Amino acid sequence: MTDSELLYDDLHIAFLEDLWGGGFLSPGGAEEALRVVQGLDLDGKRVLDIGCGSGAIAVLLARDGGAAEVVGIDVESDVCAAAERRVQEAGLEGRVTIREVTPGPFDFPDQSFDLVYSKDSIIHIPDKEALAAEVFRILRPGGWFAASDWLISHDGTPSPEMQAYIKAEDLDFAMASPERYRRALDGAGFTEVSLINRNPWYREVAQEEYDWLTGSERARLEQTYGKSFIADQIHTWTAMNKVLATGEHCPNHLRARRPG
Ligand SMILES: C[S@@+](CC[C@H](N)C(=O)[O-])C[C@H]1O[C@@H](n2cnc3c(N)ncnc32)[C@H](O)[C@@H]1O
Repeated sequence: MTDSELLYDDLHIAFLEDLWGGGFLSPGGAEEALRVVQGLDLDGKRVLDIGCGSGAIAVLLARDGGAAEVVGIDVESDVCAAAERRVQEAGLEGRVTIREVTPGPFDFPDQSFDLVYSKDSIIHIPDKEALAAEVFRILRPGGWFAASDWLISHDGTPSPEMQAYIKAEDLDFAMASPERYRRALDGAGFTEVSLINRNPWYREVAQEEYDWLTGSERARLEQTYGKSFIADQIHTWTAMNKVLATGEHCPNHLRARRPG
């Protein structure tokens, strides 16, 4: 991927980290990231983080979650560089590795991870069925897939409001319904498939994010990132809050287990 094709370049990384905290390119910080694996035992486990972004979560899973080893993969060079810096700052080079990869099947042997994690990144992967099959393949028997992702509530044509939101994001979103994820995971052979709708949480948080963008911080944000960049973000958040309010945009936590 060339620099001009990056969706998450250094400017976007800086803005999103300003909004969501250092090393986080999705909402909710450490609390929401760890909620995805709540109740699962990571102690001594080997974990893959798909779409690791700028790396706070890979660090968190090793440092606070107790994972023995975390491999973070991402397709973009700026986020991988940021994640590598974060791992070094945390002094975790021995336990956390970051790999820049190309989209498609994973370059990992069968049954090589105890847990496959992902936070708000699978939205960029259109073929949910192929992804589910790949995650199943690389998990050890008894291992868990635990992810958060941004879903659309149905399989029909997105509403005009949803189409406007997806266009505003301009991030190659490939949103799928809870039913499609469930079918993909069932079809891959997973058991104990569950989904938890996080719309009620995020619709409130996103309103606070909009207030932050348009309130007393606005002048600083415009000075730091440029007026037109901030105007674009306000346009995106305005469009997003409409589809969060109707429930059509429904972030979910997904869990599934490879039978032991
Ligand atoms: C919204 S960010 C989330 C990053 C991180 N998980 C977090 O929560 O802070 C989505 C990430 O997915 C990455 N991504 C996009 N397509 C991908 C793919 N096919 N495989 C892995 N990562 C991908 C992007 O480069 C970006 O870093």
